[in-house]
Amino acid sequence: MLTGVLGYPVAHSRSPAMQNAAFEALGMAPDWRYLALPVPGDLFDETVRALPGSGYRGANVTIPHKLLALAIADDASDAARGAGAANTLTFAGDGSIHADNTDVGGLLDAIGEAPGSALVLGAGGAARAVIWTLREAGADVAIWNRTAERAAALAAELDVRAAATVEPERFEAVINTTSVGLVTTLSDESALAALGLEDRAAPSLVVDLVYRGGGAPTPLQHWANQANARFVDGLEVLVRQGARSFEIWTGKEPPLDVMREAARV
Ligand code: ATR
Repeated sequence: MLTGVLGYPVAHSRSPAMQNAAFEALGMAPDWRYLALPVPGDLFDETVRALPGSGYRGANVTIPHKLLALAIADDASDAARGAGAANTLTFAGDGSIHADNTDVGGLLDAIGEAPGSALVLGAGGAARAVIWTLREAGADVAIWNRTAERAAALAAELDVRAAATVEPERFEAVINTTSVGLVTTLSDESALAALGLEDRAAPSLVVDLVYRGGGAPTPLQHWANQANARFVDGLEVLVRQGARSFEIWTGKEPPLDVMREAARV
């Protein structure tokens, strides 16, 4: 059976290494394989509809296609509908398409237990999935975003609060969904300043969905370390969403340590 990741671009994705390592570890390779599938948006529908007939059991979907993936599905899980996006497609024998969002469960798996309260930084697609997840898990959620109108609109839509200022000490967790930590030319100070976190102490849990090559620390990781806060990085969330997708497609328990090791290379 074939599986893969649809995105544009996808060359940087850690998913092929991670999923193929899992297939190897469970003796499922080479029958099961996971490929990088670079597909531009205008070819997305046509490509996805061709996959079941080409031996595909399912596919992950990454930026910028997570909305298209939800739209093309015949049915969708509550998580995919709630997050407004899908990252996992599964093809049934009749060619019908089921959409799931394993980013949602993957985030909870990565952090263990949902915090009582959380400040989410950012108001894009990644923020939407995080906010929906935490809200469903019972957390009191506030959104802060550089462009305040986006935070207000998302807060109203998801029935959570918008925060006018960044006051991390008022929350149990801070979760960064912005792309700020990706910019390696920004100093830690400038990156933290862009998020209003400079001169602020970290709460007990800090999550940064961003991750850097080789697992190099992000500015938020340094910030968390200064306060001895627990830190969960984007690679752990990636591993956990991948593990859930693996289980959906294969019905087998994912070899987490193998997947983590392959993702972190
Ligand atoms: P995604 O769907 O992956 O979340 P996105 O919709 O482009 O991506 O959102 C990126 C997020 O990072 C936004 O919240 C963006 O803030 P704006 O809405 O104000 O653009 C945030 N972001 C990106 N660069 C930033 C920076 N230099 N400082 C602060 N926030 C930034």
